[in-house]
Amino acid sequence: MITTRCDRTLAWTALAGHFVAHGREFDLREAFARDAQRFGRFALQAPEVFADLSKNRWDLATRKLLLDLARECGVFERRDAMFAGEPINVTEGRAVLHTALRAPKGAATPFNAEVHEVLDAMLGFADSVRDPGRGITDVVNIGIGGSDLGPQMVVPALDAHVTRDIRFHFVSNVDGHDIEPVLRQLHPQHTLFVVASKTFTTQETMANAHVARDWFLSQRGQHVERHFVATTTNVEAAARFGIETTFGFWDWVGGRYSLWSAIGLPVAIALGSAGFRELLAGAHAMDRHFADATPEFNLPLQLGLLDVWYRNFHRFTSRCVAPYHQGLRRFPAYLQQLEMESNGKGVDLAGEALPFGTSPVVWGEPGTNGQHAFFQMLHQGSDVVPVEFILVKTPSHGHAGLHHKLLANGLAQSQALMLGKTVEQAMQERAPTASPTLDAATVARHRSFPGNRPSTTFVLDALTPRALGALIALYEHRVFASGAVWGIDSFDQWGVELGKALAGDLLPRLESGDASGLDGSTAGLLAKLAGPT
Ligand code: F6P
Repeated sequence: MITTRCDRTLAWTALAGHFVAHGREFDLREAFARDAQRFGRFALQAPEVFADLSKNRWDLATRKLLLDLARECGVFERRDAMFAGEPINVTEGRAVLHTALRAPKGAATPFNAEVHEVLDAMLGFADSVRDPGRGITDVVNIGIGGSDLGPQMVVPALDAHVTRDIRFHFVSNVDGHDIEPVLRQLHPQHTLFVVASKTFTTQETMANAHVARDWFLSQRGQHVERHFVATTTNVEAAARFGIETTFGFWDWVGGRYSLWSAIGLPVAIALGSAGFRELLAGAHAMDRHFADATPEFNLPLQLGLLDVWYRNFHRFTSRCVAPYHQGLRRFPAYLQQLEMESNGKGVDLAGEALPFGTSPVVWGEPGTNGQHAFFQMLHQGSDVVPVEFILVKTPSHGHAGLHHKLLANGLAQSQALMLGKTVEQAMQERAPTASPTLDAATVARHRSFPGNRPSTTFVLDALTPRALGALIALYEHRVFASGAVWGIDSFDQWGVELGKALAGDLLPRLESGDASGLDGSTAGLLAKLAGPT
């Protein structure tokens, strides 16, 4: 489905005019002063996730024009085509159906029977691994990208819901420094290795899987087939590796959307089948919201449109995600693959070069740690970076004092970004640590904050499996929405291929030292690195 390119629509032209008239100079402080109802006007409640969008540089007219843009760009038709299983991943000729993985049994969704057959088998296996009689104390997931980041992010995020009887390890990098410290902690007879790879050909994963199997045998491990399982669409390749227990999935599940499939096996072992079903249920609730909520109340849609507004009109190039929950420490990394691998594209569906920006750089760290590192730049740096705060009302620990400090800091950061501090205000303050030899006005200029820096705050009641499922699905659909406006294929990833091919060429050269035909820099570096390690 090819629609009018977004920058050729009437809405885009109207947005460009609106930006010049009301967007460029938009001031959040004035907006709140003008409108006592602003918080309520830009607050949205989606399943499990409340969002305050009021500290963003937009007004009702901006939102209306962005919704017009979505209509003109065919976002709703594209969304419906995704849910219906049409091959919207045009460059690979595939459907995009991660939503089908979390639809309840019996739902009228594509592949429902197949999905639940594998899900039931996978969850039955997960519960059997949790059975103390099985003797498994360590589960090692070997995978990379989408076959790693989801489980690696979710297991610590839901720590309060995770079995205490099993330790979970994640090995991804083709670097012995990753697998070696994990192997050191294991006993072969008490370990289950999950080889997770959609294709079962990924160099890193295959190399690590072989290292793990060699280690297992060298430690006199018995019954490889009971200690290695695979989660993959390539069941035959897993069998060739010697794995008898395989949980499959399908080519219509993109790697970065595969957490909900058999790739979620470590999560299912960690949470148990009931917990994994809750994760799916939360994501499904968000799917229904994205599919059914009217545009004016549709949170993923509005987030995606805000991303377009910031990227293409304000020309902000990055977005920071700051979860105020230590369990979500890998969430920014997870989102990097989700968003940047999906929307980091430079051509439209027809392969024509795009004259506008697409995916921003997504980055972040949990608060309050980030406050003591990069928040300086967010407050006083020369670039404006919209920030997303994720706050969780009820912690899963009993340290209420700590939690209130955490929440107070999260709120304060979003407040400070918006309010800023004028030079005059700074002049009124004492600055005991400022140099006594500097005059007060100079110190005040250093201590002033421009403010008017935008942020979104998400509030979850608690970080439960259901809430996390909804939160992840929220981000998936928001990435979909901006990608649909830009008219790109958000579900392919051709950009990862060139490096893979070149690494294949360089591998034997590292042994031989042969630099013939290489560019000068690569040849020079090869000369430094080649030879025995
Ligand atoms: O980095 C490219 C990529 O294809 C990702 O999209 C994917 O998640 C990752 O590699 C792992 O692929 P596989 O699951 O096939 O091993």
